Amino acid sequence: MNVSDSERVASQLERLGYSIADSEETADVVLLNTCSVREKAEQKLYTRAGQLKRVEGPRKIVGVMGCVAQLEGNNLFKQDRGIDFVIGTKAVGRVGDAIAAAVEGEKRILDLGEREEDYDWLPIKSQRHSPYVAFVPIIEGCNKFCTYCIVPFSRGREKSLEASEIIRHVLELRREGVKEVHLIGQNVNSYRPKSESGLEAFKGTTPFSRLLRAVAATGIERVKFTTSFPRDYHADITDAINEHENLCNWVHLPVQSGSDSVLRAMKRGHTVESYKKKVDSIRSSPRNISLSTDIIVGFPGETEKDFMETCDLFEYCEYDSAYIFKYSPRPGTPAAELEDDVSTDQKKHRFLELEKIQRKMLQRSFERKKGSVLRVLAEKPSGREGQLSGHSPCQTVVNFEGDEEHLGTIVDVVVTEAKRNTLFGEIR
Ligand code: 5AD
Ligand code: SF4
Repeated sequence: MNVSDSERVASQLERLGYSIADSEETADVVLLNTCSVREKAEQKLYTRAGQLKRVEGPRKIVGVMGCVAQLEGNNLFKQDRGIDFVIGTKAVGRVGDAIAAAVEGEKRILDLGEREEDYDWLPIKSQRHSPYVAFVPIIEGCNKFCTYCIVPFSRGREKSLEASEIIRHVLELRREGVKEVHLIGQNVNSYRPKSESGLEAFKGTTPFSRLLRAVAATGIERVKFTTSFPRDYHADITDAINEHENLCNWVHLPVQSGSDSVLRAMKRGHTVESYKKKVDSIRSSPRNISLSTDIIVGFPGETEKDFMETCDLFEYCEYDSAYIFKYSPRPGTPAAELEDDVSTDQKKHRFLELEKIQRKMLQRSFERKKGSVLRVLAEKPSGREGQLSGHSPCQTVVNFEGDEEHLGTIVDVVVTEAKRNTLFGEIR
């Protein structure tokens, strides 16, 4: 979401006639986009602002955007940290105004206001992270209030974009040569637009599955979506994947813990049993859907037994990939009121244990893929001479011998070798 925000801010500035500097040293204005999901985010920001102050040459204008900006607001101007303006998560459409005011000499510019009605969600081609893969936001914010999480406070309540607008964005991206769109949002499957406009012709019990079918119908080569909230994951999403080849066979379904008591304390709204049922149904798809997850170790009160249950569930789900996090209290969240009683050592130990299981699972997943043919989108040079890198529909990174002419095309790659996090292969 932050990368996507940065792309749109860069687009806005380019439209206003600014150019994006090659490096921080040569820039007149530096924008720091911040995340506050885990650990000492403010501290990181202050360190970076301090570094910028020490850069030689004329003083730069420094702006802060993202979740730390939204949460800390005016606090960021305390002490002389060299921060000129602070832009909240919904005020990013007005970064240009803040820069103009700072150039005029205005100090301590703060905008934590609401998003404009006509906010432009589509970044321009030159500012997207890839010419072939594009992020398409479909919902912002979160209403779930998991007890450890700061996102509902930093990004506000869920708000869905109208389907007709999303479809227009996808068609535009397709025209510009994009092959793969990622529909993004904190919880994409909680998608609930104000109107059915653009979805009328599509079946499915939830608006999200209808949106998936509508996006599939644009004819764009590939559609991926992330993140899915387990409680809102219904079979109609798997049905849509089963029926549309261009809906990719990958679901990111964060479980967070394998212990019912921890899940309850996290207020996740799912149990181990209900989660397993969803996984079973996803696994029964003929599309061989790959599954990834997020896990937090060391939530307050997590016992060794709770952790063992997480290990069991982890193995049961046979994830293709997983992001593992050590719990870090976020001030202002309900969990931050609880005693952070799992020691740093225990958190580290549990993290490493899960990582071990993950490596084993990844190895098995890679072994299964060896010798098979994957349809890989050739996205960029891999960094090794004569080699390209891209993703399969199931979101595995695959490197293979190839030339510039393959870039932006989808090629059949026979998997020959597996290393750590990457598969290697040859074009068939
Ligand atoms: N501590 C550790 N991990 C967290 N996450 C969110 N909040 C916290 C926290 N306070 C993780 C969750 C979420 C992912 C984006 O970040 O696993 O799914
Ligand atoms: Fe945070 Fe929970 Fe919302 Fe995800 S669903 S963004 S973990 S509150």
